[in-house]
Amino acid sequence: MSHAATEQHDVVIVGGGGAGLRAAIAIAEENPAFSVACVSKVYPMRSHTVTAEGGAAGVIKPSDSLEDHIYDTISGADWLADQDAVEYFVHRAPEEMVQLEHWGCPWSRMPDGSVAVRPFGGMKIERTWFAADKTGFHMLHSLFQTTLKYGNIVRYDEHFATKLLLDDAGRCRGCAAIELRTGTVRAVLGRSVIICTGGAGKAFPFTTNGAIKTGDGMAMAYRAGVALKDMEFIQYHPTGLPGTGILITEASRGEGGILVNKDGRRYLEDYDLGEALDVSDPRHPQKRAMELGPRDKLSQCFVKEMWAGRTIRTKDGEVVHLDLRHLGEAKIDRRIPFVRELARNYAGIDPVHQPIPVRPVVHYVMGGIDVNSESATDIAGLYAAGECACVSINGANRLGSNSLTELLVFGAQAGRNAARFAMENPDLELGGLESQARDEGERIRRAYFSAGARRAGSADGGGASERIAVLRNELHEAMEDGAGIYRNQESLEKTCDKIAELKERYANVSLDDHTNSFNTELTAALELSSLLDVAETIAHSGRERTESRGSHQRLDHPDRDDDDFLAHSLAFRTEDGGAPRIEYRPVTITKWPPGARTYGADSGLKREAEGSGTGGPSAADGNTE
Ligand code: FUM
Repeated sequence: MSHAATEQHDVVIVGGGGAGLRAAIAIAEENPAFSVACVSKVYPMRSHTVTAEGGAAGVIKPSDSLEDHIYDTISGADWLADQDAVEYFVHRAPEEMVQLEHWGCPWSRMPDGSVAVRPFGGMKIERTWFAADKTGFHMLHSLFQTTLKYGNIVRYDEHFATKLLLDDAGRCRGCAAIELRTGTVRAVLGRSVIICTGGAGKAFPFTTNGAIKTGDGMAMAYRAGVALKDMEFIQYHPTGLPGTGILITEASRGEGGILVNKDGRRYLEDYDLGEALDVSDPRHPQKRAMELGPRDKLSQCFVKEMWAGRTIRTKDGEVVHLDLRHLGEAKIDRRIPFVRELARNYAGIDPVHQPIPVRPVVHYVMGGIDVNSESATDIAGLYAAGECACVSINGANRLGSNSLTELLVFGAQAGRNAARFAMENPDLELGGLESQARDEGERIRRAYFSAGARRAGSADGGGASERIAVLRNELHEAMEDGAGIYRNQESLEKTCDKIAELKERYANVSLDDHTNSFNTELTAALELSSLLDVAETIAHSGRERTESRGSHQRLDHPDRDDDDFLAHSLAFRTEDGGAPRIEYRPVTITKWPPGARTYGADSGLKREAEGSGTGGPSAADGNTE
């Protein structure tokens, strides 16, 4: 593990996905003279944004309103979202979507040339912009090609950032990163830093997330002293392919797909999610109802059906069927061609002729690095945006298609604010930053490559030598068993204890590969270390929250408890690196006091009765492309 020359920039971004690239453009626009570093574990076009399918939400139809998008988001979040942040997000969403079009994003269109929008879960009207069902691919391409026109955005592709570097005054000034091609550790320095490293779905065994989503940025911020907020809220997407966890986009339900159990029944109507209208009814698919209910509830309904013995047994576990056949081949090929491709390739099913087997799958971490409504952390000069951050607009349950927009809106905001911080702090000393990076390289070398590390299993080395895959599998099992869709005190306690044990055993991990170039074993070890820290915050935050809200369902505390828990959890790392300390901060409520979360026909009617003036779902909202 050698050390490379220090690289100096004005702002450093860690992460090259949608949020990171959007931030980079914002900085380049804010100050064209600035040098912007973009440090990414993978080549940017391989970031997980590329896999997003269904679309990005933003009000566009004249019959829609910003107030409705805000209300849907807040109620979808089970009132745990900060309402000032949601208002900011919703107000800025449309301009970001239009901006992206100007940068080349090929949004699907209506025959008259206007932008097409589709319905998504928990939303009372169509507002999800899409590019067929490869939206993330097109968005990321548009952002990436836009960054290329700025000569001042310098990329550090395939660099694994392992540590934030703080100066003597406690300001965040950069990161230490391993260049994966050479094994060289570099200090990439600036006067402010933005973390945009995505989520941590890989803490669980069955996830839509790519292998790279191991919570590295979250862990890095946590280790530097920033709290991880609302980590107990893990989103299960209701429709993943069994076996692989590959996402079958919610767009398939937005286009009219239905979910049926082993008896062919549209079981969601048994769970207060509305009435199963015939698929030929012009009101189908009904917004904020049935298959277009929110993800937390749909995933919970699946589990209840499974407990009742009404799911379908397959070699890859229990499933229900997502039936698209009534949509017809032409519509499937035009609106959701990727769904057909994925179902054919990974399930051997052609959805034109057969229903697709699906089951809930870990998809998104609602919590993340604690940032305020300006995307700033408590460490001066450190910002975060995208899935790794919790600002918080998603609360206890994110609505589908809000996250792609979130990474644009808050990626841009974080970029502007980090640029301004750097402009306001022009003359910062290098201080001991370079030696910190050198120390980090030395720490990694000693922990993973030294003779001591290899001898860990021997008498002088402490415990038995541990294998990465074994620890990771045990972590997965503990998370799925104890911190899955339904949890209770006992299951969470067990998971907390197991993670503590795994962290101890991790100290005895030994690597067979001591080479420097693309050492995937080292990468896996560092990723597992991130996952252990992040998983620990998930389990402990879940154990402390003795209520049920959104995606956090406690069988032993089945009700929402606004008196005690209308609050964000904050998990702080403790001195000894053991169990986190959990604190709480009240949720910001502006205009929408907590209310009952209703879906189905009730949701629209109730709001009309409250005088919101926004009306209920109606056939007139239909997208007639
Ligand atoms: O189902 C989907 O296309 C996922 C979208 C999202 O998570 O926002």
